[in-house]
Formats: sequence, structure tokens, C-alpha cells
Amino acid sequence: MLLPLAGAEPPDLARICRPRFPALELRVNGHPAAFFDGPGGTQVPDTVIAAITDYLKEKNSNTHGHFATSRATEGVIRGARQAMADFLGADPEEIAFGANMTTLNFALSRALARDLAPGDEVVVTDLDHEANISPWRALEEQGVVVRAVRVISPRCTLDMDHLASLMGPRTRVLAIGYASNAVGTINNVQEAIRLARQVGATTVVDAVHYAPHGPIDCHSLGADFLVCSAYKFFGPHVGVLYGRREAFARLKTYRVRPQSAEPPEKIETGTLNHEGLAGITAAADFIAWLGEQVAGHPLSRQPAAGEPAAARPAAGQPVSGQPASGRRRAILRAMAAIEEYEGMLARRLLEALADLPGITVYGPGAEERRTPTVSFTVAGHHPARVAAYLGSRGLFVWAGDFYATTLVERLGLHDSGGLVRVGMAPYNTPEEVERLVAALTSYLAA
Ligand SMILES: Cc1ncc(COP(=O)(O)O)c(C=O)c1O
Repeated sequence: MLLPLAGAEPPDLARICRPRFPALELRVNGHPAAFFDGPGGTQVPDTVIAAITDYLKEKNSNTHGHFATSRATEGVIRGARQAMADFLGADPEEIAFGANMTTLNFALSRALARDLAPGDEVVVTDLDHEANISPWRALEEQGVVVRAVRVISPRCTLDMDHLASLMGPRTRVLAIGYASNAVGTINNVQEAIRLARQVGATTVVDAVHYAPHGPIDCHSLGADFLVCSAYKFFGPHVGVLYGRREAFARLKTYRVRPQSAEPPEKIETGTLNHEGLAGITAAADFIAWLGEQVAGHPLSRQPAAGEPAAARPAAGQPVSGQPASGRRRAILRAMAAIEEYEGMLARRLLEALADLPGITVYGPGAEERRTPTVSFTVAGHHPARVAAYLGSRGLFVWAGDFYATTLVERLGLHDSGGLVRVGMAPYNTPEEVERLVAALTSYLAA
């Protein structure tokens, strides 16, 4: 996370967006709820809820019917593909949907496996969520060799030299996370993709954790496949898969006979979650709206090393009437503002935690580019106990391994219950961070 230029305050996103989130009204034991559980899933704005409800009231149907609601449903699907294309810097024909990222990734690994022979190699990382490890480990049954890139702890960065050394003539797939949902590390995926391409390997990027926190530009990133989940960025529970045009065309998916053999439908088995897709478009429009709200703000974010230039927001581009390119520009501006605002919150938390006795933070430091996901242990206290104490005071944090099981094992924390995880979203406030720190201070003093 980069520091703002001297004197430039990040835009106050919480003030702008909090009225849009009905869930924020919740109270727990007399305390207002503070949702620090974003890495598990964000809350949704009013327009997402309305879009889902409206779909079910007015358009509910299956596709390919010769009547109004069916045609409207097909429009909803097309709209959602365009919305995610704008969000991810892709074309609509490169966007497919599924139940969630995990299910899509299993479908992807099974499809790619049809072209793998015993002895072929897949490279995964020790930093990743199991959703980007287990689908590849499953291929060991057919003789595929899975190799894992090491993590350098306690900062939890990927050992890029090790990654480079694992790329060889038998490497067929590199499966890598964009960012760690457990500790907030942002990987140099562009460099990893470059290394994989040198040996002709297919690249699969898990962007589930990164997508809510930073701009993605699939076309300049160059990954063959990228997966994410709308419920992490203000949308409903729907998985999203980007497939680079040529790679997607080659993919041999498992399908039912009448299903289209063309991208993107070729990986979409069964009926899609139509109401969810209506919500996805509303989520992209919400992010674009956020970008419009900060249009006059002097954002200071500079692109980081390895970050695609095309991911930079164009300065001060208002959107109205929402042509696709206008929405994309507004989304990029919103993501730049989100990075700055959430980064400010994360830095405040990291600085406060450094002063608390018995707390060990894992992951990159406050000065490094990272997502605003802060994880720590409290000496002598089970993470679930800490989380339950905070939860009873309306402070919603997670405890455990968050399915980043290998990482937590490598950190030696598996048997002690893993980590306490605090995640920031644009609706979180500095006051909520102060409340969290005060509650932790009382917990430690008790
Ligand atoms: C980094 C990461 N990858 C994958 C997943 C799995 O996503 P889904 O629940 O959509 O299957 C998660 C869920 O938390 C995640 O954080």
C-alpha cells in the first residue's frame, strides 16, 4: 500500500458510501456492528439488493424462451458479462460465471487436465487459498506432479527465486494468487506470468482476495485465466472466471451435450444464478458510482512495480450514461480511492498493534504495498477466543486459517488455532479501528 503524497488525505469513502449499506445499521449487545470481515465477504449496497429483488419480481425465467421474461433474463446475463469485463479489463466473451470461485477452478483444472500426461508439472504456492491448491493437487491421481513455491516468513512473501527455479520443460500450469486472503501479501503476478510464459505454461490467477482492493487489467496482465468472487466486492455469491480469448477457445471443458461449445458458455454447466448476475451488474455500477463521487479528488496513488500501466485510473473522468469505457474509467478511479482509503485504515491498525504487548503481526509491513488485511496472534490466547470477545462487542473479525491452510501450517500456527484476521472495506471508519484497538487493549488487560 503506497503512502499518499504529503498533505493529500485519502477521500473519505466511508462518509460517502455508508448510507448505501443497510446492513451497517446492525447492533450487537448495544454496540454498532463494525464489519471487519470483508475478506470473508463484504456487505452489499442498496442497489444490489434492489437489482436482485427486481429480477425475481420482474424478469424471473430461464433462457432461450420465446417470451419477454426469458429475453430479459438473457439481457441480464449479457449485462453481467459486460459489467465484469469493465471490472476486470476484459471482453464480455471472456467472462464466465459459476457457483463460486472454487467450483469454477475445479472445472478449470479438470478441463486443463485433459491435456496433461503423467509427469507433467503444475506449480502452486504455499501462500494460496486451498481453492487454488486442491483442484491442482487432485490431478496427482493421474500422475501429474505438483510443486509448491515457498513463502518467506514472517512477511509472507513468495520466494520468487524458488518460483523461477520450479519453471521447467514439464511445467504445464502455474496457479498463483494475486493476493493472500490470510495476510494481505500482494504477489508480483506479472513477473510470475512472464516466467511461466517462458516455458509455455498456462497461468491461472486467483484474484478473489485482490479484486476488492486494487485495479485489475486482465488484458495487460496476460494471464490465461483469472478467477474471482463477486461477494467479496459488494455483490452476491457468484463466481467469475476470465479466460483469455485464445486460451478459453482451446479449453476442453466437461459439458452436457446441448451446451454451447464456445466461450464463455462452454464452462457454464446448468442454469446460472440469474438474480445473482443482476446483482453483479449493480455491484460494478456501485463501484463506478464510488469512482464518480471522488472524481474531483486529487488521488495520489502511483502504479507499483510490476503493475500494468493500463490499470491506472484516468484522472477525473466523470461517467454518466455509462458507456462501457466510461464505467471502466470510473471503476479504476474507485479502486485507486479504495486502495488509498483502506491503506490509511490498515496503517493505523498496524501502528496501533505494534504498541500492544503479546501481539505478533504476520504479513507485509505498513510501508509495503499490501491489501488492508491484517492478521495476528495474541500470545497465550486462542484466536477463536479473541474473535469471540471482539464479536460480542460488535467487532466482526475472523479467526482460523481461512483455508490458507498450508501457509498457516508453514507459520507453525496450525495447532494453536491460526490467526485473528481484520479486513478493511470502504465502509469501515477510523473510529471503528480505534474501537477495535480499545477492545483489544481491554482484552489484554483482563
Ligand atoms: C483468496 C481466495 N481464493 C479463493 C476463495 C474461494 O472463493 P469462493 O468462496 O468463491 O469459492 C477465497 C474465499 O475466501 C479466497 O479468499
